[in-house]
Amino acid sequence: MRAWQVSELGEPRDVLRLVDIAEPEPAAGQLAVRVLGAAANFPDVLMCRGEYQVKPPLPFTPGVELCGEVVATGEGVTNIATGDRVLGGGSLPHGGFADYALMAAESTFAAPDSLSDAEASAFYIGYQTGWFGLHRRAQLRAGETLLVHAAAGGVGSAAIQLGKAAGARVIGVVGGEAKAEVARALGADIVIDRRREDFVAVVKEATGGRGADVIYDPVGGEVYQRSTKCIAFEGRILVVGFAGGQIQSAALNHALVKNYSILGLHWGLYAARDPESIPACHKALTEMAAAGSIKPMVSERLSLEQVADGVQRLADGATVGRVAFVA
Ligand SMILES: NC(=O)c1ccc[n+]([C@@H]2O[C@H](COP(=O)([O-])OP(=O)(O)OC[C@H]3O[C@@H](n4cnc5c(N)ncnc54)[C@H](OP(=O)(O)O)[C@@H]3O)[C@@H](O)[C@H]2O)c1
Repeated sequence: MRAWQVSELGEPRDVLRLVDIAEPEPAAGQLAVRVLGAAANFPDVLMCRGEYQVKPPLPFTPGVELCGEVVATGEGVTNIATGDRVLGGGSLPHGGFADYALMAAESTFAAPDSLSDAEASAFYIGYQTGWFGLHRRAQLRAGETLLVHAAAGGVGSAAIQLGKAAGARVIGVVGGEAKAEVARALGADIVIDRRREDFVAVVKEATGGRGADVIYDPVGGEVYQRSTKCIAFEGRILVVGFAGGQIQSAALNHALVKNYSILGLHWGLYAARDPESIPACHKALTEMAAAGSIKPMVSERLSLEQVADGVQRLADGATVGRVAFVA
């Protein structure tokens, strides 16, 4: 079968190689799938660079999120059968950027009928992260103001939709006019192009000086530091990621004097710490997708040959929504 492989670490375009390898066999608790769709995620970029918290052994095939048709199940798998259309995480070193991939049965779910293969391939990480961040960690309430950074991106686009579905007023921050169009189309009430406007001033003006109740930050660095200037009394800043490349430090005296909370979010940890919460979240999200209140925005459907280019453009901040390999 064809698979993209990383044998040495570096920028995606330099280290991803399309090779022919044997189809992977599922071990106990795993399933093998024919890949129907695989969405590119920032962790794929970070893994190519060797900068992610998970460091798969070399060589590995990236593709941490996918939709596939089950072709074989390993020992002990009882909840999923051959022929099922499923979505979830790729089990590296055999991730989704290949004709066939492996998945862990415990983190694999039925793909919603309301979503195409491409959409279903982007319905796991960004939406689960948004759900846990906004509801479980930040306790977002209807009527509150939610500020989303990198709002046209994969994680950000899901956060806009989930924020609107929760009844929040959503402000999106993006880099560039084309991305601003995307954030508006996703439902953001106010969109700020960070290249042309100071988001702190716009948020203050839009909230009568109060600031945002919840700030969803997948970018970090200076973006986090500026966010502390427009967080409301008893507001919550969600530390979601560091796509900007800088890991910030927090001034705790500032959090004290302004009465705001800084909430870390590592969605992947819930699978180990509270396994029941992941299928419960998938059920809630599936119902929302069926009702039409959320839907992954897949901006580009790539052939397998185009995957390295797509992952590199994600690394360069040049994509919107999700770019996905579709078989
Ligand atoms: N905490 C968790 O459990 C969790 C789960 C999933 C993902 N994440 C994290 O969430 C972040 C977003 O992931 P994603 O896959 O959805 O990516 P993405 O948001 O689609 O792409 C990253 C975006 O970040 C912005 N950005 C700002 N500075 C950048 C820079 N120097 N280089 C590249 N992009 C830059 C760009 O948007 P603008 O131009 O609009 O600013 C870019 O489009 C990543 O850090 C990822 O690791 C965390």
